[in-house]
Amino acid sequence: MPLAAHGGDIYGVARRLGVSPQQIIDFSASINPLGISPRALRRVAREIRTVCHYPDPRQEELRALLAARQKMDPECIVFGNGATQLLYLVIRYFSPEKAVLVVPGFSENRAALASVQAHVGTFQLRPQGQFRLETNAFLDDLRRAKPDCVLLTNPNNPSGAVIPHEEIGQIAGFCRKMQIRLVVDESFVDFTREPSLSGLVGRNRFLIVIHSLTKFFALPGLRIGYLTAHRSIAKALSQVIEPWSVNTLAIAAAAESIKDRPYQKRTLALVAKEREYLQCGLRKLGWLEVYPSQVNFLLARSTIRSLSGKVLRAKLEQMHLVIRDSRGFGSLGPQFVRIAVRTRDENRRLLDALRVVGKPSVSGKQSS
Ligand SMILES: Cc1ncc(COP(=O)(O)O)c(C=O)c1O
Repeated sequence: MPLAAHGGDIYGVARRLGVSPQQIIDFSASINPLGISPRALRRVAREIRTVCHYPDPRQEELRALLAARQKMDPECIVFGNGATQLLYLVIRYFSPEKAVLVVPGFSENRAALASVQAHVGTFQLRPQGQFRLETNAFLDDLRRAKPDCVLLTNPNNPSGAVIPHEEIGQIAGFCRKMQIRLVVDESFVDFTREPSLSGLVGRNRFLIVIHSLTKFFALPGLRIGYLTAHRSIAKALSQVIEPWSVNTLAIAAAAESIKDRPYQKRTLALVAKEREYLQCGLRKLGWLEVYPSQVNFLLARSTIRSLSGKVLRAKLEQMHLVIRDSRGFGSLGPQFVRIAVRTRDENRRLLDALRVVGKPSVSGKQSS
């Protein structure tokens, strides 16, 4: 098993099935089901003519827009080729010796720490607690472990559970006091009504917030993300990031998406409605336990032993529908799957397929 298993490989699936990637419905990567903003699409078409020049190395247009949106100092922002590049940048730069990772979580967190040979301890989120972080127990664990770095994802991937703003603020304050570098990945926060932690970086040199722009704005193929940190840290990181990590089309598409308020509103409304629809539909099957989520994906556990995550993924793949099994998330059992919230037609197709897949087994024995 590779250390970092990912969803979203429609090309690999299409090659295996001998079909075109357009025939695949991808529930395995958690991307805005509306697709790219129409305004961003028009801008990319115009901007293509400028690719004969190097991209703006300061990303001024996007920087100003984001700073205004987050109400923060533009010099606290560093852009990168997706949140993933920034995660590796931060870990390489600080090169922690001892880190604590909240699991289950995004597989690249562990891979980034492995790349600097950090000693990694884990703090386990439990299905019985619906994968919510128990803040006091977590802080006790950090007191005992005394790491120099903590990585967590809020909202959590794969569960979609959110640490309330007050509690994550408490964790950030604790880490500052203990001089622990806290890296918070907020790649899915725009799908919630929660404020970003970025507002705190100006006063906390130990806090780094990483943010993808590929999920909410449906730009994973263009690659763009940013981090926010104290001005002095942001300056140091911008001096060591590879030059021209962010290309002209990605900057233009992200800038235009941020300006496209109607698209953002439509996205929030659609995801809320479809998450509810999909969650109800999955529960009605009678053999999938679905965990509460505030974002655009759902974590579920199959209670039929013969229908493990891996089996479900393989059966659905034959029907051109792709979901994530638990590989790569660390510490999730074999019965778990993660499913992205998509459009009504697509969600209905998935539910129909699951009814077919589950039929022979429903009358069979269910695991507890
Ligand atoms: C929590 C989390 N952070 C970051 C990423 C990757 O984001 P990007 O496409 O910006 O590199 C993912 C992708 O699945 C993710 O789940």
